[in-house]
Amino acid sequence: MSRAQNRVAILHGVNFDVLERRDASLYGGMTLSELEYKIGNWAGEHGLEPSFFQTNSEAEFCGYLHRLSEGADAAIINAGAWTHYSRAIGDALAVDPVPTIEVHLSDVENREDWRKVSVFDGLVEEKISGQGVDGYRLAVEALAKILDTDRD
Ligand code: DQA
Repeated sequence: MSRAQNRVAILHGVNFDVLERRDASLYGGMTLSELEYKIGNWAGEHGLEPSFFQTNSEAEFCGYLHRLSEGADAAIINAGAWTHYSRAIGDALAVDPVPTIEVHLSDVENREDWRKVSVFDGLVEEKISGQGVDGYRLAVEALAKILDTDRD
């Protein structure tokens, strides 16, 4: 029998290792572990098997994306500031793609103009921003629909 298509990689980029030290009015004041714990619970509720990755190294992030489909059937990506300027990371996502949702905690459409640009345009199923942690719940639900894991 073939393997269930239910593995979701949750990828965080630069500065997410210090999430709790960043502006709480934008990013919620939680630690990355607290955020990942919540995402893990939502994933489990929808029959998804989560894995987590964070790095401050652009090279490591690209390397992970080059092999994305080896460990994941879908992905949630919040690449932080890289989102807005790293064409290298956009190109890396195109190398070995899986259905991916882009998430931002803050409302990037209503902040500085440079944050409105995303290198993932045209590469992701959907972009969710400005919903705080709840954005990840919405992303998990959207991927569960795409992978059809919600059946009991
Ligand atoms: C962010 C938005 C980015 O503009 C910023 O550089 C981040 C976090 C968010 O989740 O709101 O690091 O991706």
